[in-house]
Formats: sequence, C-alpha cells, structure tokens
Amino acid sequence: MKQIAIDGPAGAGKSTIAKFLSKELNLMYVDTGAMYRSIGLACINAGIDMENEAQVGEVCGKADIDIQYIDGVQHMFLEGKDVSTDIRREEVGKAASDTSRFTAVRERLVAIQQQLGERYDVVMDGRDIGTKVLPDAGLKIFLTASSACRADRRVKQLAEQGITADFEEVKRDIEQRDYNDSHRANSPLCQAEDAILVDTSDLNIEQVIAVIKDLYNKTVWK
Ligand code: DC
Repeated sequence: MKQIAIDGPAGAGKSTIAKFLSKELNLMYVDTGAMYRSIGLACINAGIDMENEAQVGEVCGKADIDIQYIDGVQHMFLEGKDVSTDIRREEVGKAASDTSRFTAVRERLVAIQQQLGERYDVVMDGRDIGTKVLPDAGLKIFLTASSACRADRRVKQLAEQGITADFEEVKRDIEQRDYNDSHRANSPLCQAEDAILVDTSDLNIEQVIAVIKDLYNKTVWK
C-alpha cells in the first residue's frame, strides 16, 4: 500500500499538506488528531478527571467512536453523533493532549489507524505516525515551524472567524501543548530517523507545497 506519514507539532500546517497530497495522489486522508480529540470529548462529556488514568481508560474503552468518509472527507462520530465540528474547540484539543498520553487510549487508536493503513492508500498526520503507526511508510515528513509563527497563524485564523485572541496567550498554549506532546512517556512527538524535516516558518503555503511536491516526485514507492 502507498503510505505517507506526516508528523509535527500543532499548527505547523500538517492538515493543509495532508489534504493537498490526498487530492493530488488520490490517497485517503486520515486525521489521527481528530480521533484523539473524539476521546478527549468523550472524557469531557463523562465529566471525569483527565489526570486519572483508570477513569480515562474506562471511558476510552466504552466510547462508541466511528470514522466515516463522506464525500471523501473524514467525519468523526461519537455515540452516533457527528462531532467533527465540536472536536475543533480549544477545550477539546487540551483534553486530547491530556488523555492521549495514556496507554489504553493510544493502543485503541493506533490499532484503528494501522488497520486503515493496511486496507487503503493513505496520507496520515499526527505525532507518532512515522515512528509508531506506519514505520514502513514510503514517505515520511516532519513538518515544523517556530512557536511564534504558529501562534501568529492561529491568531489570524481566529480573526477570520471573528474571534480576537491574544498573541502571547496563544503562543504560551502552543508551547505548553508542544511540551506535553513531546515529553510524555508513550509515543512522544519526535522526528523518525528516516523522516524529512520541513520547517515552514519562513515559507508561504505555495512554497511549502512546492517543497512537498518535489519530495513525493522523488519518492521511490516499494
Ligand atoms: O493534531 P491535533 O491538534 O488535532 O491533535 C490533538 C492532540 O492529540 C494533540 O495535542 C496530541 C494528540 N495526538 C497524539 O497524541 N497522537 C497523534 N497521532 C495525533 C494527535
């Protein structure tokens, strides 16, 4: 199967690049962050303590989560309800970051992700795709950008939605999230040895796409 793994911190542009590659190469786009967010939402709905591994494990084990592709777009369902929009909330992102460090959560979601990778040609983005989920992916990209640059992009994105956000606060949240994601014991965010590092800090979207195009044109698929 054709597999592309894209890892990197929040706000580096992973989903933009993954969507582009999925269209260009006709691959299924698997957004693994959305799966962790769905578990985070299940934990919020259950009103449990996100620090409590046993409680998080129980909610995760019981949660009815389903992934469906509607017109080629991934939708997440929790207890039969489409939560694709709800999981984008900041609060849910924080819950995903907190609960994704527990083994029960990772084992359940990694198994689903690996099944998708076995059945379909995929471009998958997340934190541990190149290191853990798809270690044999034909192309691995580690996409990053400075925290200031990612915060700036986020503030502009929120402004487009009519939301005013404080740059320093957004930057602090991003740095805290980076720290959590890269310092947990279970599959921390890190670059796979055979991944290609792409720093998007000083690049606009067209330039990033040009770099990525060049990378996949040079890829020899096994
Ligand atoms: O990419 P995102 O912001 O939607 O991810 C939300 C959280 O999920 C992120 O803080 C860390 C976690 N995550 C993970 O641990 N492993 C992945 N493969 C994807 C996301």
